[in-house]
Amino acid sequence: MTPDEAFIRDLPKTDLHMHLEGSMEPETMLEMARRNGIGLRWGSPEALRAAYEFEGLSSFLDLYFEACRVLQSERDFHDVTAAYLRRARQDGVIHAEIFFGPQTFLDRNIPIAAMMDGILGAFGETDISAGLLVSVHRHRSEAEAFEVLRLTEPWADRVLGIGMGGAELGNPPSKFVDFFAACRAAGFRTTVHAGEEGPPAYVREAIDLLRVSRIDHGVAAAQDPALVADLAARGIPLTVCPLSNLRLKVVDSLAAHPLKALLDAGVCVTVNSDDPPYFGGWVTENLVACRQALGLSRGDILRLVRNGFAAAFMSDAERATALERLDAAAKS
Ligand code: HPA
Ligand code: ZN
Repeated sequence: MTPDEAFIRDLPKTDLHMHLEGSMEPETMLEMARRNGIGLRWGSPEALRAAYEFEGLSSFLDLYFEACRVLQSERDFHDVTAAYLRRARQDGVIHAEIFFGPQTFLDRNIPIAAMMDGILGAFGETDISAGLLVSVHRHRSEAEAFEVLRLTEPWADRVLGIGMGGAELGNPPSKFVDFFAACRAAGFRTTVHAGEEGPPAYVREAIDLLRVSRIDHGVAAAQDPALVADLAARGIPLTVCPLSNLRLKVVDSLAAHPLKALLDAGVCVTVNSDDPPYFGGWVTENLVACRQALGLSRGDILRLVRNGFAAAFMSDAERATALERLDAAAKS
């Protein structure tokens, strides 16, 4: 690791866009499969890693949902969370906001309590500040999203916010207007995946119709200058995941990624890991790869990291403390 990479790794950082189910290293996935007696199509970590070649978002989601079968018990949900938090800590992450989509597991009749208690139990054992973003699938119905809200109600005071992912094309934000209104009325912060494989119009719908506080990905917005100006003026952050965008062919190369253009246009761009083992990098690798491909300065890196804290669903007091830590590390 070069001194420059170590500098980036050691900065106190956020990870605001990652999916718990997508954080399992192949070794962990195979171990979970073994202990739960689940047959997987891949027999070794190497075979799994070799399968991580994707045509786009849907081909990735097919494999991702298949791999989710290895998670079954409260212990599994606990262990996968603890493993992510350990790994994120090594990556210099001090605040993580973790998406988790219960619908995949409800389909298999896994009790919601096993998921929530497993995940939240692991949060209680770490010194990273960790928050749960309950995520629904946009390729399912709005009624099913409401059912997730109802089932997670007993844990509502420990849920940081509500998000939405899944297959984007053909499933515009406008399909979920009533659901997001209900989430906001119930006092939840909200964020939504938009403008990953979908068009800029989906980002526009997300901010105007769903009225979310953040956009996950949102890179398609770069195609619409008026939308970029609006995101900047309204201070709506984008949780961008550059290596995910590369591996899911959202961009042809990192050099062609709009991250720097969005940052220069004044948008609150943040850098995040999404599904790190699948896409070949944690937050540090994402920042390092962008620094090289887009010629980012140290100042740009610090701005991206600072934006992470600005965009985080934390209290102003927590934000001030975190920013002090960042400023101290940046000077050293
Ligand atoms: N996009 C949509 N859904 C997802 C993703 C993503 O990048 N990762 C996991 N679920
Ligand atoms: Zn995502």
